[in-house]
Amino acid sequence: MNKFIIYGAGKCGQKWLDFFKYKHLQECVYCFVDKNAKSIKKISGVDVLSFEETYNLDLPYLIAVTDSELKEEIENILRKANKKYTDNIEYIAEYCGEDRITFNRDYCAWSHLNTSYFERAEESDWMDVFWNKNGVFYKMFINLDLSNVVELACGHGRHVPMYASSAKHITLVDILEDNIRFCKERFRNKNNISYYCNNGYNLSELADSSYTSLFSYDAMVHFEMLDIVSYLKEFYRILMPGGYALLHHSNNTSDYKAAFKTGVAMRSYMSADIFAYFAYRNGFEIVEQKIIDWEGIKNLDCITLLKKPHIL
Ligand SMILES: C[S@@+](CC[C@H](N)C(=O)[O-])C[C@H]1O[C@@H](n2cnc3c(N)ncnc32)[C@H](O)[C@@H]1O
Repeated sequence: MNKFIIYGAGKCGQKWLDFFKYKHLQECVYCFVDKNAKSIKKISGVDVLSFEETYNLDLPYLIAVTDSELKEEIENILRKANKKYTDNIEYIAEYCGEDRITFNRDYCAWSHLNTSYFERAEESDWMDVFWNKNGVFYKMFINLDLSNVVELACGHGRHVPMYASSAKHITLVDILEDNIRFCKERFRNKNNISYYCNNGYNLSELADSSYTSLFSYDAMVHFEMLDIVSYLKEFYRILMPGGYALLHHSNNTSDYKAAFKTGVAMRSYMSADIFAYFAYRNGFEIVEQKIIDWEGIKNLDCITLLKKPHIL
């Protein structure tokens, strides 16, 4: 197993250690290097050493600091010592045998664990963004036939109580087992809900041409474009002819490198046109697209309504 050293035992370095643990890749982290090595000594069982103590090791360094001056200082130290280094976690992931898309997808999902998002999102002002009768999402949502509806990336299921009484059967899908467990407990008294913890890029457990509608809100904005392309193919496969998909996605084209980790408001690289192109190529009719502002950022997102046409 390839190992590396995290240079910086502060918040950023600890975050990467925690994530590597989540991925069961903690063995890849040989140690931390930090100027406070004498006082810190260990973090979650991993040694914190001075740079000099790692000098004879032939291992690459991940620079894990956010302050740009400090980062430059560390780069100078490593360059002078002829060491291999990067501040790009994706290179390190690849070096540790991980596919970059998987790594980013898992990082996005993991970042939702232990946050206040799910509680905050239940408050009326956030609920209102979706459910306001004059809002863009709601106006498109009412096109959906909820006889057999799929909600993708359901989180803690905050929307379910808003539409459950109009739905015959609901399938809640999320990449995180934690979220599926939460929803199962929350809706334990409802017998018309199925649960599916998926892999983050397909819906292989859902049958072909069986669902009347699908929607996803405040989630796909973060997904990698390659995962969205894979999902669009799946949406088409599982929907009945005449079925609708309502999708809230990113319209962030400011930087092709943008991903959950780095993009404006954690938006991945995507645009209304690119989304329409992939949807169309998969067979969908683009019923409507509305570009929207999000948290004060102009034109950041897009809401797209798709229809699987009846063929002939
Ligand atoms: C910001 S939360 C939104 C949750 C919910 N849609 C809501 O409005 O409350 C994003 C959700 O996407 C899920 N998620 C992240 N990546 C995913 C993926 N690739 N496939 C499916 N779910 C994913 C997370 O686990 C999380 O529940």
